[in-house]
Amino acid sequence: MKHYLITGGCGFIGGHLAHELSAAGHRVTVLDDFSSGREDNAPPEARIVRGCVTDGALLSELAGTCDGIVHLAAIASVEAAADDPERAVAVNVGGTRNALAAARSGNIPLVYASSAAVYGDAGARRVRESDRCAPISDYGAQKLECERELRGIGPLATIVRPFNVYGPRQHPASPYSGVIARFIALCRTGEPLRINGDGSQSRDFVYIADIVRLLTAALKREAGEPLTVNGCTGQTVTVLELAGAIAAACGTEPDIRHGPARAGDILHSCGDPDLAAASLGFKARTPLDAGLRETVAWQRGTDQ
Ligand SMILES: NC(=O)c1ccc[n+]([C@@H]2O[C@H](COP(=O)([O-])OP(=O)(O)OC[C@H]3O[C@@H](n4cnc5c(N)ncnc54)[C@H](O)[C@@H]3O)[C@@H](O)[C@H]2O)c1
Repeated sequence: MKHYLITGGCGFIGGHLAHELSAAGHRVTVLDDFSSGREDNAPPEARIVRGCVTDGALLSELAGTCDGIVHLAAIASVEAAADDPERAVAVNVGGTRNALAAARSGNIPLVYASSAAVYGDAGARRVRESDRCAPISDYGAQKLECERELRGIGPLATIVRPFNVYGPRQHPASPYSGVIARFIALCRTGEPLRINGDGSQSRDFVYIADIVRLLTAALKREAGEPLTVNGCTGQTVTVLELAGAIAAACGTEPDIRHGPARAGDILHSCGDPDLAAASLGFKARTPLDAGLRETVAWQRGTDQ
């Protein structure tokens, strides 16, 4: 049995990871400030500490009894980071420096959730980890800066670049919530799905259980060189196709309204999954329609 610290462990990804590690018999400590997370996302047996990752002393103290850190706490979207740029730098960069210092002083592995946003607008091809990174948002630039600093700690760091993660417990009410959660909620109430532009923009959607498997594999990695891997499927769907698939999963006809294309939107985003497969044995295995069914079922369950 090991003891892991998950920063942001009451968030969407962190809550699922906390459940998984706990179910596997590990002790889990969560550090979360509840800015977007919810206590009931984490398993009841986890120790939950309310606090901020900008508090380096607290992070180091918590990490002191742990065998590894998964650092997920962040102002976790392009829009949210743009809304409060100063706070975003303090949390996204400063918080990661604190996680790095805690891992270094405890000589324990650190898994960091970066983002596909580091690539910027790379076109329709599958992007590889070795490709040039040219983020077009402050959020992406903050993630890239943290990656650079993390690689400096040597063999203990694994950097995961999730693409578009979706699944149960991604709450649709948040203005920063992913498109899948929002579209499902709209379909279920019979409201139109508003698409920016013609809907030909495409994304690589990866199901939450797959990302949790990847983070877990990264955490258990034997010491070696620092590693950076995509968290992706290597497949894309257009937003228009997605709207149709979500309507089908909800058992409705899609009511689609097109609005103006959003300035600065990345048109295509697709990751190359080969390095994660070769280095960590990871392959996303949840087809989009199956993941959508689970996500719809979860949203329906929240009505009761
Ligand atoms: N969801 C995705 O599609 C996706 C894609 C790429 C990268 N990521 C990254 O994965 C990580 C987790 O994302 P998520 O989707 O679970 O987001 P989320 O907002 O659901 O979770 C983030 C958690 O961190 C907590 N938090 C925020 N600021 C904090 C602070 N200063 N101190 C302590 N806790 C704090 C929040 O309360 C929340 O529980 C983030 O770093 C995000 O940038 C997510």
